[in-house]
Amino acid sequence: MKNGESITIFDTTLRDGEQSPGFSMNIEEKVRLATQLARLKVDVIEAGFPIASEGDFEAVKEIARGVKGAIIAGLCRVIKKDIDRAWEALKYAERARIHTFVSTSDIHLKYQLKKGREEVLHEGVEAVRYARQYTDDVEFSAMDAVRSDLEYLLRVIEATIDAGATTINIPDTVGYAIPTEFGSMIRMIRERVPNIDKAVISVHCHNDLGLAVANSLAGIENGARQVECTINGIGERAGNASLEEVVMAIKTRRDYLHLKTGIKTKEIYKTSKLLSSITGIAVQPNKAIVGENAFAHESGIHQDGILKERTTYEIMTPESIGLTKSRLVLGKHSGRHAFSKRLEAMGFKLSKERLDRTFLQFKRVADIKKEIFDEDLEAIVEDEISQVPETFVLKYLQTTSGSHTIPTATIKVKKGDTITQDAAIGDGPVDATYKAIDRITGIPGRLITYSIRAVTCGKDAIGEVVIRVEFNGSIVIGRGASTDIVEASAKAYLNAVNKVVYRNKVPKVG
Ligand code: KIV
Ligand code: ZN
Repeated sequence: MKNGESITIFDTTLRDGEQSPGFSMNIEEKVRLATQLARLKVDVIEAGFPIASEGDFEAVKEIARGVKGAIIAGLCRVIKKDIDRAWEALKYAERARIHTFVSTSDIHLKYQLKKGREEVLHEGVEAVRYARQYTDDVEFSAMDAVRSDLEYLLRVIEATIDAGATTINIPDTVGYAIPTEFGSMIRMIRERVPNIDKAVISVHCHNDLGLAVANSLAGIENGARQVECTINGIGERAGNASLEEVVMAIKTRRDYLHLKTGIKTKEIYKTSKLLSSITGIAVQPNKAIVGENAFAHESGIHQDGILKERTTYEIMTPESIGLTKSRLVLGKHSGRHAFSKRLEAMGFKLSKERLDRTFLQFKRVADIKKEIFDEDLEAIVEDEISQVPETFVLKYLQTTSGSHTIPTATIKVKKGDTITQDAAIGDGPVDATYKAIDRITGIPGRLITYSIRAVTCGKDAIGEVVIRVEFNGSIVIGRGASTDIVEASAKAYLNAVNKVVYRNKVPKVG
């Protein structure tokens, strides 16, 4: 097998991905995800659009300061104040990239920018030149490139490379291209732009027709050497090309593509799960690579084949994306040292206080559930990480329900030194619990989504509840884990309420 050239993986989960409804993250969550992206060994992390908001600016700055290993990129329009602002945040990075963009399609020029082609070309060139004062790593994107006049696009590319752009990105902004068509476009750029050897060609495909990954692969087959993509394929509308699909296609079909990436594929599953856990949005079960069913074999014929020889129905192993079978790791006699060592090996670095609290919780769980697996530990840690100061603490919960009983919840919640007790009836024990909590806190929420999953198998498994709740127009994610699912539900709801209280106290950054 040929060794193969390397494809640069440019992750835009925190910029294009975060832009889509339901996926917004706070600064702490963005830093957490960026840290995991660095562990995954993406080459470039697009951390945000610094001029867009104070929160975006702070997030890019924090990531530039704290996340090592990857190039940190910030997006800006072809406007000097955008570029200045981006650099203010990016300058702390080990390696920084300014990513500037302008539309080049006539449809955007006419209706959105209300500018002529020459004016836009001039703005693009000036922006790249200006950005080069700060760094020699400048990316230029011709937004809506796919629907742009090809001759004009080629001129823009040549001029921006002359001005100093080191990466030229060709976005299919509206997800319109067909793979063979997109591949030809990239080939044309490679063959007809005279100075193209001075820049890397990048592709950035949206998924409106479900072709984002196919188009990205067509791009690299025709000479693109950077792919812009997101974890779980999140992004504007139908999303962006999914990182895990692009990377695993390159790895699995190396025999055909003769290319490679530097991605540590064993971190893929964990990264996907982290994003779902932060945003409270799970991937669909049949999602390629990271969906719950991606490696499940249901039909008898397939199972028979797999048992005889795995490769009959499996083109890649679950282990290659870091999906390992549950391994018994700890029990109730395990000590603090073994516990903290295991967390470290799983990639969690906790402060002493957090470690103390998670260890206590681990002991409580281990008393009920004799065998503790990695997934249990993950749920315990996620529960701790998602905690904010607990203004309201659950002290007591009793529910009654059944086919001939009116579901009722009696709850005691502590706030400061005061314990308040109340009861409510509802459509089920969880609904009754949430109503009782609303009465006690005086902060009523509207439940938008509710999901529960057993973290491991067995009747004594930890149930992890993730909910999205709307409080006065803003959506908050709450998480709670317990071996009792109604208690996990109550903890998730109080976690969401406590986040609202905390956010209203802490000065807002975005
Ligand atoms: O889709 C797009 O065109 C973009 C650019 C800003 C790169 O996201
Ligand atoms: Zn995009």
